[in-house]
Amino acid sequence: MGQTIAFHKADQLKAKPDASGLGFGKHFTDYMFEMDYSLDEGWHDPRIVPYGPITLDPAATIFHYGQEVFEGLKAYRTEDKRILLFRPDKNMERMNQSCARLNIPEIDEEFVIKAIKKLVAIEEAWIPSQPGQSLYIRPFIIGTDSALGVHPSATYKLLIILSPVGSYFGNSMSPVKIYVEDEYVRAVKGGVGYAKTAGNYAASLKAQTKSEEMGFDQVLWLDGVEHKYIEEVGSMNIFFKFDDEVWTPALNGSILPGVTRASVIEMLQHWGVTVKEKKISVNKLFKKAEKQKLKEVFGTGTAAVISPVGFLKWEDHVIKVANGKTGKLSQKLYDTLTGIQTGKIEDKLGWTQEVKVDHEEATEKVQPKAEEAPEAVKTEDKPKEAKAEEKPKEKKAVVTD
Ligand code: COI
Repeated sequence: MGQTIAFHKADQLKAKPDASGLGFGKHFTDYMFEMDYSLDEGWHDPRIVPYGPITLDPAATIFHYGQEVFEGLKAYRTEDKRILLFRPDKNMERMNQSCARLNIPEIDEEFVIKAIKKLVAIEEAWIPSQPGQSLYIRPFIIGTDSALGVHPSATYKLLIILSPVGSYFGNSMSPVKIYVEDEYVRAVKGGVGYAKTAGNYAASLKAQTKSEEMGFDQVLWLDGVEHKYIEEVGSMNIFFKFDDEVWTPALNGSILPGVTRASVIEMLQHWGVTVKEKKISVNKLFKKAEKQKLKEVFGTGTAAVISPVGFLKWEDHVIKVANGKTGKLSQKLYDTLTGIQTGKIEDKLGWTQEVKVDHEEATEKVQPKAEEAPEAVKTEDKPKEAKAEEKPKEKKAVVTD
C-alpha cells in the first residue's frame, strides 16, 4: 500500500485515568487511526486523528445489516521500557479471514500493523505498566454505504482505537463459574462463527445475561446443530486437561480461531505436552470428570489471556474443577504467556514485535502548543484537505512510514 499516514494534532490532551482502577475498555486514548475504502480508490486516506465521535448516515450498512469485523490485541510495556505487541501478524491474518467471510475488502496486513505501531508509539504514555495491565488495541471495519438494500457496502471505514486496560475479570486468575448453555447457541457451521464479527457477540448476550442471573460468570457454548459438542466458553476458546493430555475443540467453522488458543497449543507442544484438537461432547467431559480424569479447565483469549474454570454446571450435573482453584498448568501458561508479552521471559518462538518510538517526534506530537500555527507543524508531505472541513480545530502534520 505504501501510503503516507497523516497526523492531525489535537488541541487538548486528556487526563490519564488512575492506573489502579482501569478495568477493561472504559478509557480511550487521545488519538485513533482512521482510513476509508471506496471502489475507485481502494483503502485510502490513512490518518491519525483526535479520538472522538464519527459521523455516519443513519442508513449506513453497519447499523442495519451488521457488516463489521474487528480484532483485539495488546501492547505491553516491558521493565526496560520497551513496547511489545504480541503476534499482530496473526490478528491481521484473521482480520482478513473475517473480511472475506463478511464480504469486506481485504486490508494490507503489513500496512495496518505499521499503522498500529505508529498509533501506539504516539500514545506510548498511555501504556500502563502494572502487572496484568496493557494497552488494548481494537481495529475494526464497518460498512458505511447509505442504502437499505441488502447488499455489501461499497464504502468502508477502518478505525483503530486504544484503551489502557487491567485484567478482563476483576482478578484474572481466580477461577470462574460456568453454566453449560443448552438453549441458545453462539454460532453454527457455515455461519460466521469463525469470523470476529459483531453479530457473534450480539448473539451471545442473551445467554450471558441468563448465566449471570443464575449466578454464573460465563456460559459454555455447545454446537448449534446437536447441542452436544463443546465449542467455546464465553468469548474465549476452551481447554481441558485430562490426566496428562490437553484437549481443545477442533476448529470446525463455528469456533473462533483464537490467537491465544494457537499460542497455548504451540507452547504446550514446545513443552512436550500432548495436545489433541477434537470433537468433545459435553457428555464425555462429565463422564471423564466422574472418573476423576478432569484435572484442569481454562479459557483462552486476548482479553483474559488464561482464565481458569473452577465450576461447571450442565443440567443436574455439577463439576468442581481442581477443587475450585487455579491449576498448575493454567498458572504456568499464564505466567509464560504474560512473561513473553511483557519481555520478562525470552521470546524463543519469535511472537513479539517491538514498537519503536522516536522520542523527539512523539513528544512534539503529543504536546501541541495552543498557539501553534499549522504551518509551524513539522510536515514532510502535503496533507490532504478533505478532512480539515470536518474537524476544523485540528492542526495537521504528516507521519511517513
Ligand atoms: C478475547 O479475549 O479474545 C476477546 O475477543 C474478548 C473481547 C471481545 C473483549
